[in-house]
Amino acid sequence: MISFLKNKHIILGVTGGIAAYKSPDLTRRLIEAGAIVRVVMTQHAKEFITPLTMQAVSGHPVHDELFDLQAEAAMGHIELARWADAIIVAPATADFMARLARGEANDLLTTLCLATCAPIAIAPAMNQAMWKNTLTQSNLEALLAKKFLIYGPASGLQACGDVGPGRMMEPADIIEQLNAIFNTGLLAGKNILITAGPTREAIDPVRYITNASSGKMGYALADAAIEAGAHVTLISGPVNIAKPLRATCIDVVSAEEMLAAVLEKITHCDIFFSVAAVADYRLKHIFSEKMAKKAEEITLELVRNPDIVATVANLPNRPWTVGFAAETDNVLQKAKNKLINKKLDMIIANQVGNNLGFDSDMNTVTVLWEDQQKSFPLMPKQKLARELIQLTSRLSERKIVC
Ligand code: C5P
Repeated sequence: MISFLKNKHIILGVTGGIAAYKSPDLTRRLIEAGAIVRVVMTQHAKEFITPLTMQAVSGHPVHDELFDLQAEAAMGHIELARWADAIIVAPATADFMARLARGEANDLLTTLCLATCAPIAIAPAMNQAMWKNTLTQSNLEALLAKKFLIYGPASGLQACGDVGPGRMMEPADIIEQLNAIFNTGLLAGKNILITAGPTREAIDPVRYITNASSGKMGYALADAAIEAGAHVTLISGPVNIAKPLRATCIDVVSAEEMLAAVLEKITHCDIFFSVAAVADYRLKHIFSEKMAKKAEEITLELVRNPDIVATVANLPNRPWTVGFAAETDNVLQKAKNKLINKKLDMIIANQVGNNLGFDSDMNTVTVLWEDQQKSFPLMPKQKLARELIQLTSRLSERKIVC
């Protein structure tokens, strides 16, 4: 099974039922699948399993208090809610289901469930009579209506000796279900080309002109596109991040090299994301030897680099073309101008500077297309990338001919 859980931020909620003995195994399997796990325990969960066990298997301190100053200082509950790519509550007791269905926020776990935008799955575990009780069943209906994901329960012998529905779904099956959340198939079979990172324009053999782009946004988009079932080619300038698994990766240095690589790979491409912060200028003449420090002042003569995304947008059989506009001021207006002037299908306007956008793990953007726009609040770049892929798949669907 391909793991789509790699690098996903998963909150594992543990509530007070005997099936909590399976929670360390679930944690271990999540980590084996590549997820980063934070465990949240209710007070009753601690009657069944110790926070020390969960800390040891997850590699992080357990979160268990809503009003704990120390925990709030480390990672506050709203921050934790935003951090999550998914929440899985396993085991989920009848009491937890009831509180969740009523929208209560009287402990850390229910508060996180209210505060997060991430998908929430629960794996109920309780006595078969409690499960069949009409009150539990109406809570179940309410949760299903609100798009909570319900995993199980399985049927069989129960800890109390009864036989029937109410056993927690096995950890291996929960992993399979969680994996499916991230395997969206939105871009199944599509060919996606992405440029990322900065370009480096040589001055002499040891010096160059570049910018502060880290490549994180482009790489996150590559991951999200792969997750959505696309074949991804990633053309990257010099960065210090790990290559996405299952992408065809091409390393380049300068804007001219990036253009050549793009033009070579653009045929059969359905969607082109031009995320790279391409240097606008390069040296007219690169010094063949290291420049000596003699003069008090020097002048470097620069010439314009080709505009890669505009070149692609002008090709006869152009792919659906997406640009980025990283700006420090007048962001939306400048982005709108680029959308029109570069003939793009969509542009992602990105405020940069003051620790925003470039070289940061978080980002907030406004996406513009035709005469419409949609804003995305500050969130981790991985999460934003998934949102952007969703929007792209919806908008490009109208134009891609398969
Ligand atoms: O013109 P500006 O650099 O602000 O436009 C940003 C968009 O254009 C980005 O999508 C970037 O990848 C692309 N671009 C390009 N080639 C250039 C300059 C920018 O593809 N030489």
